[in-house]
Amino acid sequence: MTQHFIVIGNPIAHSKSPQIHTLFAAQVGIDIRYQRQYCPDDEASFTAVIEAFFCGGGVGANVTVPFKQVAYDCCVARGGLSEHAKVAGAVNTLLLNKALLNQGVPVTEAIYGDNTDGQGLVNHMTSLKWPLKGARVALIGAGGAARGIILPLIESGIAALTIANRTVSKATNLVNELSAASPTVNEQQIETCRTAELDGQFDIIINATSIGLSDDTLPISTELNCHYAYDLMYGRPLPFLQHFAARGAQTSDGYGMLIGQAALSFERWTGHRIDVIQATEELNKE
Ligand code: ATR
Repeated sequence: MTQHFIVIGNPIAHSKSPQIHTLFAAQVGIDIRYQRQYCPDDEASFTAVIEAFFCGGGVGANVTVPFKQVAYDCCVARGGLSEHAKVAGAVNTLLLNKALLNQGVPVTEAIYGDNTDGQGLVNHMTSLKWPLKGARVALIGAGGAARGIILPLIESGIAALTIANRTVSKATNLVNELSAASPTVNEQQIETCRTAELDGQFDIIINATSIGLSDDTLPISTELNCHYAYDLMYGRPLPFLQHFAARGAQTSDGYGMLIGQAALSFERWTGHRIDVIQATEELNKE
């Protein structure tokens, strides 16, 4: 029987998720239909769309900009949240909570939220053989994208984390909030500073700002160095990566993270594990 999936966003026409999940399904030999779902940018419309989808027999949904926080709020009031979604304050993966359904809870009240973005990043870095365990990591940015990757990064066994942001108070507030929400984050020593003041040698530097969407460039200290540089953006030239590549670092954009988070969503929904390296090679050929 065909299993149905959607990705909900606004705009949504550019989404690569249908292509990625269709390839995953072919890899493991199951029959799926994965569609883009446009939704007006308001909470009532989002709720109506997901309720109609799951009541109509849909198996799973991905959530993208601008609905990740709205999806979080929906799940708090309904089927619950995974630890990663709770700490991220955002949901990118929706499914039905089977335990609640078995207790007779109606479908609309059993919609459950997970967040696979951060673990997708960690899995991608691991597949690139970047040494996360014991690494000194600098994270630039303190918005939604940064927030979603902090717990999975700490769980991967990094030794030290510095969070730099243009507005340093946002970084400090983020650390305080996440430390209160998660004992794992609370146990990690995390420093904060202004982006322009971030300097010294790190193993890994991650750009989680939205600067790649603008013509601005990050103010990077000439005293800042790393072995590995990762930008969560993809699909455009990234001056952040060019800067560190010129200084001898290995670099990666966020396309592998996109595939990594999709593979984890797919696994939650279908129980099938994806060979992400093979899938990435095939997607790059398309
Ligand atoms: P996202 O969900 O993509 O993280 P966001 O929550 O709006 O988007 O966060 C954007 C991040 O990019 C923030 O860390 C922001 O810095 P501020 O908190 O100081 O606003 C950072 N950012 C965006 N444009 C930037 C710029 N031109 N220079 C430096 N940082 C920038």
